[in-house]
Amino acid sequence: MSKRVRLGVNIDHVATIRNARGVSYPDPMRAAIVALDAGADGVTAHLREDRRHISDADIARLAEMLRERGKPLNLEMAVTSEMLDIALHHKPHAVCLVPERREERTTEGGLDVAHGHNWIAPFVQKLKDNGSRVSLFIGANPLQIEAASRTGAEVIELHTGGFCDAAREGQAENAHQELKALQAAATQAASLGLEVHAGHGIDYDTVAPIAAIPQVAELNIGHFLIGEAIFRGLADAVGEMRRRIDAVRPPS
Ligand code: PXP
Repeated sequence: MSKRVRLGVNIDHVATIRNARGVSYPDPMRAAIVALDAGADGVTAHLREDRRHISDADIARLAEMLRERGKPLNLEMAVTSEMLDIALHHKPHAVCLVPERREERTTEGGLDVAHGHNWIAPFVQKLKDNGSRVSLFIGANPLQIEAASRTGAEVIELHTGGFCDAAREGQAENAHQELKALQAAATQAASLGLEVHAGHGIDYDTVAPIAAIPQVAELNIGHFLIGEAIFRGLADAVGEMRRRIDAVRPPS
């Protein structure tokens, strides 16, 4: 099995709570620092077109703090020229391109790279030329993986929402099929030279089978950890996730 799996903590929903009141707290920056101190390898934030949680100012502050600490910022964003300008300005360590619809509650599916190749590939190139590692958030679909490799992206992030939802709802056969698809996708992606990340909907119960996929190098986890932090504190919630990942992929 390959080496230790990196953990990126997504702090979007700290900003969701802050924005519910329109005040300056809780501060996603503070959450990012606590997560790093508790064992996160990096911080993930999604700047949405409607700015429903993370703001432009948050990205500026996070980028600066993480640069000073030598830790990666993974900026999730839609494939739009507005977001491209922001990413080119802040030069995050990583950019994860995601599909975005205003009416969705969260990122509901993967990018359609197979049909959007001519539009996505130039974005990938500009971001790479600017020094960011580019990842494409896609479903476990062979056509999408093959198309992703042709864009020049170095990384794919597999959408784990289908597996996590099925597992949580006790749909054992469905969860089994979803996990098999993720395993096959990770194998295919690695054979094409892509680094494999995974994320969406992961909790303490679903993290082990995903982290056990040998090609998975990074997990990005948000909603569950921020929710769990209400009951046990963010440092403890992140520390427990770190332990569960390390239990299946021990640091070598
Ligand atoms: N990875 C990507 C690309 C996402 O869009 C999200 C949700 O913002 C996540 C990971 C984290 O998902 P969750 O908040 O369900 O853990």
